[in-house]
Amino acid sequence: MRRIWFATSNPGKLAEAKAFLAGWEVLEAPGEVEEDQPDLAGNAIKKARAAAAGGKVFAEDSGLEVDALGGAPGVHSRRYAASDGARVARLLSELAGVPGREARFRAVVALKVGEDLHLFAGSVEGTIATEPRGEGGFGYDPIFIPGEGDGRTFAEMSREEKSALSHRGRALAALAAYLNETAEP
Ligand code: IMP
Repeated sequence: MRRIWFATSNPGKLAEAKAFLAGWEVLEAPGEVEEDQPDLAGNAIKKARAAAAGGKVFAEDSGLEVDALGGAPGVHSRRYAASDGARVARLLSELAGVPGREARFRAVVALKVGEDLHLFAGSVEGTIATEPRGEGGFGYDPIFIPGEGDGRTFAEMSREEKSALSHRGRALAALAAYLNETAEP
């Protein structure tokens, strides 16, 4: 089977990526980096370059932008608080009493093949719920309601339902199309 490495330590992201890359063996590449770049693409490229793996390697960086908070937490989504529960609680308290709960998730995937880099982006528009709902997914999923859905949060959807709408699903679909077009049979 064709092989590709994913520089991530997030099991939720690894499971989502495997579902898109049917026909590929997706291996987790070790290597933690400080995500200190000013934007998602910069962090994704840094992670792909730092991965201790040869051949094809990809990395991803993602974040949630809330319009009423000037785009925060954005590239700082993971550092917003110490745990998923604390991140959700902080966001809900920052939005308490604020009119307008529009938000979007963005993802950028950086694929490194030798010294070449290719970028794939995806986004999904939605709103922030007033309280967490659902047990699935990770991160801000219990409070993100995608606009193209049926009112459920990402955490109330199956992984397949979320991936069909999500920022990372869209970036991974573009990655998979590129890999399948360009890979040796
Ligand atoms: P990073 O890309 O590993 O820096 O993480 C970005 C952070 O954004 C994650 O830790 C989550 O808090 C959040 N995030 C990214 N993608 C998702 C998602 O699909 N659902 C919920 N939260 C997400």
